[in-house]
Amino acid sequence: MNDSGVVVEGVEKSFGEVRALRGVDFTAAQGEVLGILGPNGAGKTTTVNILSTLIAPDRGRAQVAGHDVVADPAAVRRSIMLTGQFAALDDMLSGYENLVMFGRLMGLRKPAARARADELLAEFDLVDAAGRRVGTYSGGMRRRIDIACGLVVRPDVVFLDEPTTGLDPRSRQGVWDLVSSFRKHGITTLLTTQYLEEADALCDRIIVIDHGVVIAEGTADELKSRTGGSYCEVVPLRLEDLPAIAAALGPLLPEESRAALTPDSDRIALPAPEGAKTLAEALRRLDSSGVELVDIALRRPSLDDVFLQLTGHLAATETGAAE
Ligand SMILES: Nc1ncnc2c1ncn2[C@@H]1O[C@H](COP(=O)(O)OP(=O)(O)OP(=O)(O)O)[C@@H](O)[C@H]1O
Ligand SMILES: [Mg+2]
Repeated sequence: MNDSGVVVEGVEKSFGEVRALRGVDFTAAQGEVLGILGPNGAGKTTTVNILSTLIAPDRGRAQVAGHDVVADPAAVRRSIMLTGQFAALDDMLSGYENLVMFGRLMGLRKPAARARADELLAEFDLVDAAGRRVGTYSGGMRRRIDIACGLVVRPDVVFLDEPTTGLDPRSRQGVWDLVSSFRKHGITTLLTTQYLEEADALCDRIIVIDHGVVIAEGTADELKSRTGGSYCEVVPLRLEDLPAIAAALGPLLPEESRAALTPDSDRIALPAPEGAKTLAEALRRLDSSGVELVDIALRRPSLDDVFLQLTGHLAATETGAAE
């Protein structure tokens, strides 16, 4: 089971006094895109560094693609791709030459390494820049050649530590497409991000880490429904109709929502535990009351709401975290 996935059990890691990881547990199935979410200093990079054998755990067990990170780090390294903070790109070489060099390092013969380099340059839209020294590349191009180098030989597991931080929208879309292609190829992907909409769009499952422990996990939808679920928002054309709306909604509007109405309110929000069914019932009641509405809609909590509730602070949209 989980041969090409990731298993993490009770992993702890301290740096001197700092307890970066205090017992992290999670799994990622083969081919799954797992989002690792958490505020600054939560322990995301430490987790990725342990799984990619850059640092050793103090306690606990971690397996990547069936190999133990402590007992067999060499096998783990052969199974993974890591991008981001530690690119081993040679600035003096061209993009093409870097790719060929990586292929040779991975044991490919020269013709195979050249053919693979050409494929990857095309896939990453770097054909025009292929002959230029990597030292002259823009940040986004560097990121792409970095990722391409890691794909010279197909990995079982990919680690992307904040791959889109600081990228422009076009380059960001490129990384998103790449993650989709990993999924298509059955590659397991662990993606740390501070962009909640990114986790929402890309990840099959999300774990939220805070202060070195996993505090929640599930699909984006599961996490959202944990935060009170959907609600229905009603905006009247005339503010003086609010009391009439409250009356028309009757039992749909709980006492606390009724009590939350103030003279400043310009809308009414009611819980919609049954989603569209609640919306339809509200609409039916309001329709027969004859009140004119500007808007009535079903709203879902965002991943931001979830994150805020779980960690007590919003994800920072920091830039330039990855050097
Ligand atoms: N080499 C180190 N020496 C000392 N402390 C460290 C070291 N690496 C990480 N830490 C500390 O461990 C904790 C977890 O850091 P980590 O880099 O894993 O967080 P993160 O979730 O990746 O944060 P960010 O979102 O800022 O990248 C932090 O308190 C950090 O200061
Ligand atoms: Mg980090």
